[in-house]
Formats: sequence, C-alpha cells, structure tokens
Amino acid sequence: MKFFDRIWKTGTAAVSGAIIAGGSAAFAEPKVEVMHMWTGGAAAEALAKMATRFRDQGGDWEDNAIAGHTAKQYAALRARVMSGDAPTAVQLKGKAIEEWAESLGLGDLNYIAEPGNWNKVMAPQLIDIMSYEGKFVAVPVNIHRVNWMFASKKAMDKVGETKMPKTWAEFNVVAEKMAAAGLIPVGHGGQDWQDLTIFETVAVGMSVDFYKKAFVDLDDAALRGPMMIKTLDQTRKMVGWMDSNSPGRSWGETAVMLGKGDAGFQFMGDWWVGNMTSLGHKHGVDYYCDTPPAEDGKLGFTLNSDSFAFFDQTDPDKKAGQKMFAEIAFSKETQKDFNLSKGSIPARNDVDLSDFTPCQQMAQKHLDAASSQGTLVPSIAHSIAQPQAIRSAVMEVVSNFMNSDQGSQDAANQIADAVKSAM
Ligand code: BGC
Repeated sequence: MKFFDRIWKTGTAAVSGAIIAGGSAAFAEPKVEVMHMWTGGAAAEALAKMATRFRDQGGDWEDNAIAGHTAKQYAALRARVMSGDAPTAVQLKGKAIEEWAESLGLGDLNYIAEPGNWNKVMAPQLIDIMSYEGKFVAVPVNIHRVNWMFASKKAMDKVGETKMPKTWAEFNVVAEKMAAAGLIPVGHGGQDWQDLTIFETVAVGMSVDFYKKAFVDLDDAALRGPMMIKTLDQTRKMVGWMDSNSPGRSWGETAVMLGKGDAGFQFMGDWWVGNMTSLGHKHGVDYYCDTPPAEDGKLGFTLNSDSFAFFDQTDPDKKAGQKMFAEIAFSKETQKDFNLSKGSIPARNDVDLSDFTPCQQMAQKHLDAASSQGTLVPSIAHSIAQPQAIRSAVMEVVSNFMNSDQGSQDAANQIADAVKSAM
C-alpha cells in the first residue's frame, strides 16, 4: 500500500506542498516551533546550542520534544498535520523525507542551498537522502554511525582484556569471561528500536553483502536464508548476556552502567559518545569504541543522519523562521558545536574535527573508507534504509524474537513474510 493511502485514508491532508521561500520576510520576526525526538541527555544539549544561536539572532524558538523514538514522533506529527497545524520545523529523516515529500510536499530549500553551496559542502553520502526530485527538501545536522561496539574500560580491566574482539567467536569468549566475573556482558535497553539496533549491527558484522541484500534490496532468499539464521543465532547469544532489568530501560541509563563498570559492552550508535562526553567520561580512560566484529573482514559503516524538513506556512514570521532555522542548522558553527555534543560528525565536509573525540574522528575516517570500499550501508533500525512500514514490520519480529524463545528459522521466515506484506 502506498504511504499516502496507509496514512491518510481516514482523513484529509491539511497541508499542501509548496515552496517555503516566496515573498519578502524583511519585516518578519522569525519564529519556529521545532518538533523533534530529543528529550534529554547530550541530544537535548546539542539542540539547545542551536536554539541559543537562533534566539541570539533575534528568533523566537519554541521547543516541542516528543518522547519515545522516531515512530512516536511521526505519530504526533501526523496528528498535527491532519489538523492543519503543521509545526514549522520538523525532524524527519531517511526514507521518510521522500515519503512525506511525495505524498504531501515539503518546502523546497534550494533558495538556501544554492547560495549556501550545499551541493559542494554537504557530505556527498547525504545529498540523495535530503533531496526530492532534484531539490533539497531537508537539511541534515549530522552523520551518526550506528554500528559501534563500546566497552567499559573497568569491565575489560576486570577480566584482563586490553583488545577489542574482532570476530563474534572472540566476542563470545570475552562475554563468557565477563559473565563468570559477575558482570553484565551486554548492557542493553530492551526497547524495540534498541533491539533492532543491536540486531542490525550483528547482521552487518556477519556480512556487509548479506545486510545489503536483506535490508536494502529486501531479497526474500536473503531474508530467510542461512546468514539470517546466523545473525539470529548470535543475537540469541547476546540476549543471554543481558540482565533481567533490561526491558524498557533507556540506552542512556545503560551507558551509565558501562561507566560504572557494571556492564561490559554496549552496541549503540554514536549518540552514546555524546552522552559519555557529557558525563565527563573519556575514550581510553573510561571506555573504548571500535568497529564491531566483522566476520567478512569488511569495514561496514551503518549510516544514520538526523535532518529537519519544513511544511509550507503562510505566516511571514514562520516563513522567516524556517529560513533562519535551515541556515543556522547547516552553518559551519552549528555543525561543529552541535556535533561535538551529539557524538556524531558534521553533515558538511569543511569542519575541522581536531576538537572531536577519537571515536568521532574514527567515524569520519571509517565513513570515508567505507564510502570508497562500497561498504557503507543505510541503517534500517534508524529509518535510513526503508520506509517506516517496513522498518516497523522487521522491528516487531526482531523484538518479539529477542523477548521470547522463538527459534531462528521461524523468526527468519517471519521477517521475510512481514517484509512482503509491508511492501
Ligand atoms: C537518532 C539520534 C538519537 C538516537 C537515540 C537515532 O535514531 O538519529 O539522533 O540520538 O536515535 O534516540
């Protein structure tokens, strides 16, 4: 079913696609309501820096943070758009950009992108994602790498480990040691999107080619085939190393457990680094970051990027607010200080990273290398690889698998069937 039919069949779309530029905003007082999903921690700190810059330039910033994760924020957004009251700036990412642009229309940002030279200064990996029919319709604020393996230095020290495991078999040995030492080998927050995050990281770590076939191409044979079974088997092992308080816990609370040395590893995107920095923890002193095990020896890099899009508004203050927001969001200054806090790397290629953490510098190095080696893949857990309907279908099966004793073959077939019916 098409996105429009799925979402809108019960109501009338209240917003029409149009250009947000038009008209002079010379006397307007720039105003934005920013709808996003960053309710706390380093993410909220990062956005607050942007808000301060906006206010310092005379704008009026209203913050509208929606708790939960992407799917919850989109539900709130749909309700607003349906009632004809679209927020002025909206966090919208990955495949959703194309979906919303196609069904409702998103503001054309080329009037800002052209003078701002976006085609040249934007990380090339993002240009297609931010565009619709050759025009920029979203402004990216970062690049997050999803497939990371973070380790607690205290926990590693406790079991006498100094090197990060390179294969899943090596990982399993270290995890066993941690369990024997009374530690929680895998710190994990049991929420559906976190479940899908660790699962997709295991999948990329089994084989980048398999990941592409399964989650980018949605190839039925790959979805129910032997590599999927291997991925599910390893995921099942990971579940065995989680603690019984995992269900419902946030990733941030889990990260604190690594800081204390109670938990050994956490598989999370590099917003984790942002929280650690904000807690005063340092790479090499309190934690390690590395590429997770890679059975195929390839440097997989799972791409995620946060971005904002704009629905047409008639109020000149709101139009002016949208322009100011987009310009500030993509400015060199914001890309630097926002990302320093957020744990990610800038969405533009002219920002100096020497003040960034070693993990962020590694992310940039690996992004460049993976891009040239053809091992850069879009994250399904973070909505870059697939539209919400397919992402949710896979997420539901994976999360059920992790919260039951379902067998791997059965789950693989369910994933393939769920994808088929969501297409
Ligand atoms: C977002 C990040 C966010 C993380 C945890 C990801 O999908 O892209 O910005 O920090 O989820 O909420």
